[in-house]
Amino acid sequence: MEELGIVDDQLVKEFDKLPADFWDFKNEDTKELTHSIHNYPAVMVYPISRNIISIVKKYQNIESLLDPFMGSGTVLLEGILANIEKVYGNDLNPLAHRISKAKTTLIGDEIVQYRDKLVFDLEKEYEKYDKILNMVTGYVDEAGYDITAKVLDKGNWGENAPGILNEYLVKMNCEIKIPNIKNLGFWFVPKCILELQIIKSIIAEIDNDDIKDYFMLCFSETTRLASNRRNGEFKMYRMTPEKVKKYNPNVKKIFLQILDANVEKMNSFRNRVGYKNNSIVSLSLDDATKLVSIPENSIDLVITSPPYGDSRTTVAYGQFSRVSLQWCDYEKLSYKEIIDIDKKLMGGTSYKKGFSYDLPSEVLKKALDEILEDDNNLERAGDVYSFYRDLSQVLDTVTKKCRKNSYQFWVVGNRTVKHVKLPTDEILVELGKTKGLKHITTLGRTISNKVMPSENSPTNEAGKKVKTMNKELIVIFRKET
Ligand SMILES: C[S@@+](CC[C@H](N)C(=O)[O-])C[C@H]1O[C@@H](n2cnc3c(N)ncnc32)[C@H](O)[C@@H]1O
Repeated sequence: MEELGIVDDQLVKEFDKLPADFWDFKNEDTKELTHSIHNYPAVMVYPISRNIISIVKKYQNIESLLDPFMGSGTVLLEGILANIEKVYGNDLNPLAHRISKAKTTLIGDEIVQYRDKLVFDLEKEYEKYDKILNMVTGYVDEAGYDITAKVLDKGNWGENAPGILNEYLVKMNCEIKIPNIKNLGFWFVPKCILELQIIKSIIAEIDNDDIKDYFMLCFSETTRLASNRRNGEFKMYRMTPEKVKKYNPNVKKIFLQILDANVEKMNSFRNRVGYKNNSIVSLSLDDATKLVSIPENSIDLVITSPPYGDSRTTVAYGQFSRVSLQWCDYEKLSYKEIIDIDKKLMGGTSYKKGFSYDLPSEVLKKALDEILEDDNNLERAGDVYSFYRDLSQVLDTVTKKCRKNSYQFWVVGNRTVKHVKLPTDEILVELGKTKGLKHITTLGRTISNKVMPSENSPTNEAGKKVKTMNKELIVIFRKET
């Protein structure tokens, strides 16, 4: 294989030529093709990776691309569109894995017939179960269950919805079975649960695995949108009891809208790539600190956006995915395994009893000392240390997977903890120096379309909110040795 040339100056010149707001992509349609087939937190809009790939490709022959934190697979799809031979994606969250797989697996035009059959079967089932669907809310109410109860009391609807509904279905001589999903009633009203199970059962019968997975993802998105969660938030908060009482989502309509939009998206993906995906896409569900299935010294380009911080105090990817993972039975995870996903993500290891600082970053050390100045802040300092300790390991692992002279693009956000700024871009540069990485440059961008909490509480005190994270930085490295 030909060696990769050093093209630092050419790249910097290219970046310097661009207007200051080039990387913002304020007015861009970021939903084309199979991008956005399913919601996901903190998606990195595709024009970022599209432009990085096209600029680097002018100067280097890129045969392999890696995103160790693929999330919804945005970077991977761009790799396919750029005809990169080997595209590697990784994420510890099984939902991210499913979305990325569905987004990057090309399906032929038979998808349209499968869609038509699904809609036909669905209408038939809705007709067949019309009475059962119409009577269920009254049944649960008359049996004395409070579907709005806040606490998950024993014997209450929140915890016992599957049992209560299965009893009802037996009484009605109906063969539908509600799966034993923990806290199902807390998140769904009775009729919604029955409808979701009807839709899921039809999808489960589909005889083409790629299409089944694609449609199951439409179902996954439906479970989230039809649940009792508060609108427009990635953290799982339930609606007020008053709203739950009146809530009557049109589940079939929600599902059919998602289904049709996504069939359209697959059709446009197929039209764009000309009926053939030239890339070999390899996805793994590994910890980014390990990446065992990715060969060493094999990657030509890395584009990635790691989390901004630990899941507890920034974006809870696991919590966002919980309802989908339970309903779709992805990877057959137990409830405990699903609940524990956030703890396995970056910064999940707890150091609240203390840590001995061992990372090669003076900037981070200074920030941690400031957080620690206040006696009570050991726990927050521990969280911060835990996150950067993982980031350092990921950088190490990713660099081992890369070829000499390959470039890495890290899109990061700087946050504030206890009023102390954490300049992740500078920390990353310091860490990179000890791993054989040359810092080429750092580009800035203003976030406009990334769906993120625009405010958080760096003090972790209720009511105290500080605006944060409307800038992102793209740190660029080259592997020198
Ligand atoms: C900012 S998101 C990536 C978004 C992605 N670029 C997109 O466009 O959808 C960060 C991702 O890192 C994943 N993640 C966090 N810690 C991880 C770890 N230790 N190993 C693998 N993935 C991890 C999360 O599950 C999440 O999907």
